[in-house]
Amino acid sequence: MIGEVNSLNQIPVIIDCDPGIDDTMMLMLAFARPELDVRLVTTEAGNLTIDKTTYNALSFLTYINKHVEVARGLPQPLFRKQEVAEDIHGEGGLGNVKWADPAFEASKRPAIQAIYDTLMHSTEPITIVATGPLTNIAALLIAHPEVKPNIKQISWMGGSAVGGNMSTTAEFNAYVDPHAAELVMRAGVPIIMSGLDVTHKAYITRDEMAHLRTLGTPFAEKVADMMQFYTFTQKQTPFYTPGFEEQIRIHDVSAVACLVAPELYRGDDYFVEVELEGRLTQGATIVDYTKQSGKEPNVHVLHSVDRAAFIKLFFEAVTTIGKTL
Ligand code: RIB
Ligand code: CA
Repeated sequence: MIGEVNSLNQIPVIIDCDPGIDDTMMLMLAFARPELDVRLVTTEAGNLTIDKTTYNALSFLTYINKHVEVARGLPQPLFRKQEVAEDIHGEGGLGNVKWADPAFEASKRPAIQAIYDTLMHSTEPITIVATGPLTNIAALLIAHPEVKPNIKQISWMGGSAVGGNMSTTAEFNAYVDPHAAELVMRAGVPIIMSGLDVTHKAYITRDEMAHLRTLGTPFAEKVADMMQFYTFTQKQTPFYTPGFEEQIRIHDVSAVACLVAPELYRGDDYFVEVELEGRLTQGATIVDYTKQSGKEPNVHVLHSVDRAAFIKLFFEAVTTIGKTL
Protein backbone atom coordinates (compact mmCIF):
# COMPACT_ATOMS: atom_id res chain seq x y z
CA MET A 1 0.00 0.00 0.00
CA ILE A 2 2.70 2.50 0.96
CA GLY A 3 4.00 4.77 -1.76
CA GLU A 4 1.28 3.96 -4.34
CA VAL A 5 0.66 6.89 -6.68
CA ASN A 6 -2.46 7.93 -8.61
CA SER A 7 -2.79 8.36 -12.41
CA LEU A 8 -1.31 11.87 -12.06
CA ASN A 9 1.70 10.28 -10.40
CA GLN A 10 0.95 12.11 -7.16
CA ILE A 11 -0.09 10.84 -3.77
CA PRO A 12 -2.89 13.09 -2.40
CA VAL A 13 -2.28 13.73 1.29
CA ILE A 14 -3.80 15.46 4.30
CA ILE A 15 -1.24 16.26 7.00
CA ASP A 16 -2.32 16.31 10.67
CA CYS A 17 0.45 17.55 12.95
CA ASP A 18 1.53 19.29 16.16
CA PRO A 19 4.47 21.53 15.14
CA GLY A 20 6.99 20.86 16.89
CA ILE A 21 10.47 20.84 15.48
CA ASP A 22 10.30 17.49 13.73
CA ASP A 23 6.80 18.21 12.44
CA THR A 24 8.18 21.22 10.54
CA MET A 25 10.89 19.02 9.04
CA MET A 26 8.18 16.57 7.97
CA LEU A 27 6.24 19.48 6.36
CA MET A 28 9.43 20.58 4.61
CA LEU A 29 9.89 17.11 3.09
CA ALA A 30 6.23 16.87 2.11
CA PHE A 31 6.36 20.16 0.20
CA ALA A 32 9.76 19.45 -1.32
CA ARG A 33 8.66 16.24 -3.02
CA PRO A 34 6.76 16.19 -6.36
CA GLU A 35 5.20 12.84 -5.49
CA LEU A 36 2.89 14.46 -2.94
CA ASP A 37 -0.18 16.64 -3.47
CA VAL A 38 -0.78 18.24 -0.06
CA ARG A 39 -4.50 19.08 0.02
CA LEU A 40 -4.80 20.24 3.65
CA VAL A 41 -2.82 20.70 6.87
CA THR A 42 -4.55 20.33 10.24
CA THR A 43 -3.21 20.89 13.74
CA GLU A 44 -3.85 19.46 17.16
CA ALA A 45 -2.61 19.95 20.68
CA GLY A 46 0.39 17.75 21.33
CA ASN A 47 3.91 19.09 21.57
CA LEU A 48 2.30 22.39 22.54
CA THR A 49 -1.14 23.90 23.04
CA ILE A 50 -3.41 24.19 19.99
CA ASP A 51 -2.76 27.92 19.75
CA LYS A 52 0.99 27.37 19.48
CA THR A 53 0.88 24.37 17.12
CA THR A 54 -1.50 26.25 14.82
CA TYR A 55 0.61 29.41 14.92
CA ASN A 56 3.74 27.36 14.21
CA ALA A 57 2.14 25.66 11.22
CA LEU A 58 1.06 29.03 9.76
CA SER A 59 4.45 30.58 10.53
CA PHE A 60 6.55 27.81 9.00
CA LEU A 61 4.31 27.44 5.93
CA THR A 62 4.46 31.23 5.44
CA TYR A 63 8.27 31.08 5.55
CA ILE A 64 8.42 28.33 2.91
CA ASN A 65 5.71 30.05 0.83
CA LYS A 66 3.21 27.20 0.97
CA HIS A 67 -0.17 28.79 1.62
CA VAL A 68 -2.15 25.57 1.88
CA GLU A 69 -5.29 25.53 4.04
CA VAL A 70 -4.42 25.10 7.74
CA ALA A 71 -7.39 24.02 9.85
CA ARG A 72 -7.27 24.18 13.63
CA GLY A 73 -7.96 20.94 15.44
CA LEU A 74 -9.02 19.75 18.87
CA PRO A 75 -7.48 21.49 21.88
CA GLN A 76 -7.07 18.46 24.12
CA PRO A 77 -6.96 14.66 24.16
CA LEU A 78 -10.25 12.71 24.14
CA PHE A 79 -10.07 11.79 27.84
CA ARG A 80 -6.59 12.27 29.31
CA LYS A 81 -5.43 15.57 30.69
CA GLN A 82 -3.32 17.52 28.24
CA GLU A 83 0.46 17.15 28.50
CA VAL A 84 2.84 19.13 26.28
CA ALA A 85 6.53 18.75 25.39
CA GLU A 86 7.93 22.27 25.64
CA ASP A 87 10.97 20.75 27.33
CA ILE A 88 11.76 19.07 24.02
CA HIS A 89 10.71 21.69 21.48
CA GLY A 90 11.16 24.92 23.42
CA GLU A 91 8.64 27.38 24.81
CA GLY A 92 7.56 28.52 21.34
CA GLY A 93 7.82 25.00 19.98
CA LEU A 94 10.31 25.52 17.16
CA GLY A 95 13.53 25.53 19.12
CA ASN A 96 13.46 29.27 19.73
CA VAL A 97 13.78 29.85 15.97
CA LYS A 98 11.52 32.57 14.57
CA TRP A 99 10.32 31.55 11.12
CA ALA A 100 7.81 34.17 9.88
CA ASP A 101 4.84 36.20 11.00
CA PRO A 102 1.94 34.25 9.48
CA ALA A 103 0.80 35.80 6.22
CA PHE A 104 -2.50 33.93 6.35
CA GLU A 105 -4.98 32.83 8.97
CA ALA A 106 -6.22 29.42 9.97
CA SER A 107 -9.20 28.15 8.00
CA LYS A 108 -12.74 29.04 8.96
CA ARG A 109 -13.41 25.27 8.92
CA PRO A 110 -12.37 23.36 12.04
CA ALA A 111 -9.99 20.47 11.32
CA ILE A 112 -12.55 17.68 11.50
CA GLN A 113 -14.88 19.47 9.07
CA ALA A 114 -11.99 20.33 6.75
CA ILE A 115 -10.72 16.73 6.71
CA TYR A 116 -14.28 15.42 6.16
CA ASP A 117 -14.92 17.81 3.26
CA THR A 118 -11.54 17.12 1.66
CA LEU A 119 -11.98 13.35 1.87
CA MET A 120 -15.57 13.32 0.65
CA HIS A 121 -14.97 15.71 -2.25
CA SER A 122 -11.89 13.89 -3.51
CA THR A 123 -12.07 11.80 -6.70
CA GLU A 124 -9.61 9.35 -5.13
CA PRO A 125 -8.78 8.03 -1.69
CA ILE A 126 -6.40 10.25 0.28
CA THR A 127 -3.43 9.33 2.49
CA ILE A 128 -3.50 10.92 5.94
CA VAL A 129 -0.06 11.72 7.37
CA ALA A 130 -0.40 12.04 11.15
CA THR A 131 2.55 13.13 13.25
CA GLY A 132 0.96 14.04 16.55
CA PRO A 133 -1.58 12.52 18.91
CA LEU A 134 -4.43 10.99 16.89
CA THR A 135 -7.14 13.06 18.54
CA ASN A 136 -8.45 14.70 15.34
CA ILE A 137 -8.41 11.47 13.35
CA ALA A 138 -10.20 9.50 16.07
CA ALA A 139 -12.84 12.22 16.47
CA LEU A 140 -13.34 12.28 12.69
CA LEU A 141 -13.83 8.50 12.59
CA ILE A 142 -16.31 8.63 15.49
CA ALA A 143 -18.32 11.44 13.92
CA HIS A 144 -18.05 10.31 10.29
CA PRO A 145 -17.28 6.58 9.88
CA GLU A 146 -18.50 6.95 6.31
CA VAL A 147 -15.18 8.58 5.36
CA LYS A 148 -13.23 5.32 5.82
CA PRO A 149 -13.37 4.18 2.15
CA ASN A 150 -11.96 7.60 1.19
CA ILE A 151 -8.87 7.13 3.35
CA LYS A 152 -6.22 5.21 1.44
CA GLN A 153 -4.01 4.78 4.50
CA ILE A 154 -2.84 6.57 7.61
CA SER A 155 0.92 7.08 7.86
CA TRP A 156 1.41 7.74 11.58
CA MET A 157 4.53 8.67 13.44
CA GLY A 158 3.76 7.22 16.83
CA GLY A 159 3.95 4.26 19.13
CA SER A 160 6.73 1.71 19.49
CA ALA A 161 7.12 -2.02 19.89
CA VAL A 162 9.93 -1.66 22.43
CA GLY A 163 10.17 1.13 24.96
CA GLY A 164 8.90 4.67 25.04
CA ASN A 165 10.08 8.26 25.25
CA MET A 166 7.29 9.88 27.31
CA SER A 167 7.35 6.97 29.76
CA THR A 168 9.48 3.87 29.69
CA THR A 169 6.64 2.07 27.91
CA ALA A 170 4.86 4.72 25.83
CA GLU A 171 5.83 6.99 22.96
CA PHE A 172 4.66 10.62 23.24
CA ASN A 173 1.91 10.71 20.57
CA ALA A 174 0.33 7.50 21.87
CA TYR A 175 0.89 8.49 25.52
CA VAL A 176 -0.83 11.88 25.19
CA ASP A 177 -4.00 10.42 23.68
CA PRO A 178 -4.05 6.61 24.05
CA HIS A 179 -7.82 6.41 23.53
CA ALA A 180 -7.54 8.15 20.18
CA ALA A 181 -4.68 5.86 19.17
CA GLU A 182 -6.65 2.74 20.10
CA LEU A 183 -9.75 3.98 18.24
CA VAL A 184 -7.67 4.49 15.10
CA MET A 185 -5.86 1.14 15.45
CA ARG A 186 -9.20 -0.68 15.49
CA ALA A 187 -10.90 1.47 12.81
CA GLY A 188 -10.17 -0.93 9.95
CA VAL A 189 -8.24 1.68 7.93
CA PRO A 190 -4.77 0.70 6.58
CA ILE A 191 -2.09 2.08 8.90
CA ILE A 192 1.65 2.46 8.49
CA MET A 193 3.27 3.03 11.89
CA SER A 194 6.63 4.79 12.06
CA GLY A 195 7.21 4.14 15.74
CA LEU A 196 10.34 4.72 17.79
CA ASP A 197 11.64 1.34 16.59
CA VAL A 198 12.35 2.93 13.21
CA THR A 199 12.57 6.63 14.08
CA HIS A 200 15.35 5.99 16.59
CA LYS A 201 17.35 4.80 13.57
CA ALA A 202 16.30 7.75 11.39
CA TYR A 203 18.55 10.32 13.01
CA ILE A 204 20.85 13.14 11.94
CA THR A 205 24.27 13.41 13.57
CA ARG A 206 25.85 16.58 14.92
CA ASP A 207 28.38 16.49 12.07
CA GLU A 208 25.58 16.21 9.52
CA MET A 209 23.80 19.07 11.24
CA ALA A 210 26.96 21.17 10.93
CA HIS A 211 27.03 20.30 7.23
CA LEU A 212 23.60 21.94 6.89
CA ARG A 213 25.36 25.27 7.36
CA THR A 214 27.46 24.66 4.24
CA LEU A 215 24.37 24.52 2.01
CA GLY A 216 24.53 28.31 1.81
CA THR A 217 20.87 29.29 2.15
CA PRO A 218 19.20 31.21 5.02
CA PHE A 219 16.66 28.37 5.21
CA ALA A 220 19.37 25.74 5.77
CA GLU A 221 20.91 27.99 8.41
CA LYS A 222 17.62 28.26 10.27
CA VAL A 223 17.08 24.50 10.05
CA ALA A 224 20.54 24.02 11.60
CA ASP A 225 19.70 26.52 14.35
CA MET A 226 16.44 24.75 15.13
CA MET A 227 18.05 21.31 15.13
CA GLN A 228 20.78 22.66 17.43
CA PHE A 229 18.11 23.22 20.09
CA TYR A 230 16.70 19.75 19.54
CA THR A 231 20.16 18.24 20.12
CA PHE A 232 20.07 18.95 23.81
CA THR A 233 16.57 17.67 24.41
CA GLN A 234 16.76 14.18 23.00
CA LYS A 235 15.83 11.49 25.47
CA GLN A 236 17.52 8.16 26.02
CA THR A 237 16.51 5.33 23.72
CA PRO A 238 15.64 2.01 25.34
CA PHE A 239 18.71 0.04 26.38
CA TYR A 240 21.58 2.49 26.00
CA THR A 241 22.64 2.78 22.38
CA PRO A 242 26.26 3.94 22.07
CA GLY A 243 26.48 7.49 20.78
CA PHE A 244 22.80 8.24 21.19
CA GLU A 245 23.76 11.77 22.33
CA GLU A 246 25.06 12.31 18.80
CA GLN A 247 21.83 11.07 17.25
CA ILE A 248 19.18 13.73 16.75
CA ARG A 249 16.03 11.86 15.92
CA ILE A 250 13.74 13.70 13.49
CA HIS A 251 10.88 11.32 14.19
CA ASP A 252 8.07 12.80 12.08
CA VAL A 253 10.06 12.91 8.84
CA SER A 254 9.66 9.13 8.47
CA ALA A 255 5.87 9.43 8.20
CA VAL A 256 6.42 11.20 4.84
CA ALA A 257 9.73 9.58 3.81
CA CYS A 258 8.14 6.12 3.87
CA LEU A 259 5.58 7.37 1.31
CA VAL A 260 8.00 9.01 -1.12
CA ALA A 261 10.82 6.48 -0.67
CA PRO A 262 9.24 3.24 0.60
CA GLU A 263 12.27 1.29 -0.56
CA LEU A 264 14.27 2.81 2.31
CA TYR A 265 12.10 1.12 4.92
CA ARG A 266 11.42 -2.37 6.14
CA GLY A 267 8.43 -3.40 8.19
CA ASP A 268 5.92 -6.15 8.80
CA ASP A 269 2.20 -6.48 9.49
CA TYR A 270 1.27 -7.00 13.12
CA PHE A 271 -1.72 -6.79 15.39
CA VAL A 272 -1.35 -3.60 17.44
CA GLU A 273 -3.48 -2.42 20.33
CA VAL A 274 -2.99 0.39 22.81
CA GLU A 275 -2.88 -0.10 26.58
CA LEU A 276 -5.56 2.11 28.17
CA GLU A 277 -5.69 0.88 31.76
CA GLY A 278 -2.10 0.29 32.87
CA ARG A 279 -0.92 2.36 35.82
CA LEU A 280 2.61 2.26 34.36
CA THR A 281 1.81 1.38 30.78
CA GLN A 282 -1.01 3.62 29.60
CA GLY A 283 -0.33 4.59 25.97
CA ALA A 284 1.95 1.64 25.24
CA THR A 285 1.36 0.33 21.71
CA ILE A 286 1.41 -3.44 22.16
CA VAL A 287 2.85 -4.83 18.92
CA ASP A 288 2.14 -8.55 18.62
CA TYR A 289 5.47 -9.33 16.98
CA THR A 290 5.48 -12.82 18.47
CA LYS A 291 2.14 -13.39 16.69
CA GLN A 292 0.65 -14.95 19.84
CA SER A 293 -2.56 -12.91 19.96
CA GLY A 294 -4.15 -14.92 17.20
CA LYS A 295 -5.59 -11.63 15.95
CA GLU A 296 -5.40 -10.41 12.37
CA PRO A 297 -2.69 -7.78 11.78
CA ASN A 298 -4.09 -4.24 11.58
CA VAL A 299 -0.89 -2.19 11.24
CA HIS A 300 2.19 -2.20 8.99
CA VAL A 301 4.91 -1.52 11.57
CA LEU A 302 8.18 -0.12 10.23
CA HIS A 303 11.31 -1.31 12.02
CA SER A 304 14.31 -0.54 9.78
CA VAL A 305 15.53 2.29 7.60
CA ASP A 306 18.50 2.93 5.30
CA ARG A 307 19.76 5.87 7.33
CA ALA A 308 22.30 7.12 4.82
CA ALA A 309 19.65 7.30 2.10
CA PHE A 310 17.19 8.89 4.57
CA ILE A 311 19.68 11.66 5.39
CA LYS A 312 20.34 12.19 1.67
CA LEU A 313 16.56 12.62 1.19
CA PHE A 314 16.51 15.10 4.08
CA PHE A 315 19.39 17.19 2.72
CA GLU A 316 17.85 17.20 -0.77
CA ALA A 317 14.63 18.57 0.73
CA VAL A 318 16.48 21.30 2.64
CA THR A 319 18.28 22.25 -0.58
CA THR A 320 15.10 22.15 -2.67
CA ILE A 321 13.10 24.35 -0.31
CA GLY A 322 16.07 26.65 0.33
CA LYS A 323 16.45 27.32 -3.40
CA THR A 324 12.80 28.31 -3.83
CA LEU A 325 12.97 31.11 -1.21
O1 RIB B 1 7.67 10.74 20.01
C1 RIB B 1 7.92 11.67 18.99
C2 RIB B 1 6.67 12.36 18.57
O2 RIB B 1 6.19 13.17 19.62
C3 RIB B 1 6.91 13.34 17.40
O3 RIB B 1 5.73 13.43 16.65
C4 RIB B 1 7.17 14.64 18.08
O4 RIB B 1 6.83 15.76 17.27
C5 RIB B 1 6.22 14.54 19.24
O5 RIB B 1 4.93 14.94 18.78
CA1 CA C 1 4.81 15.60 16.12
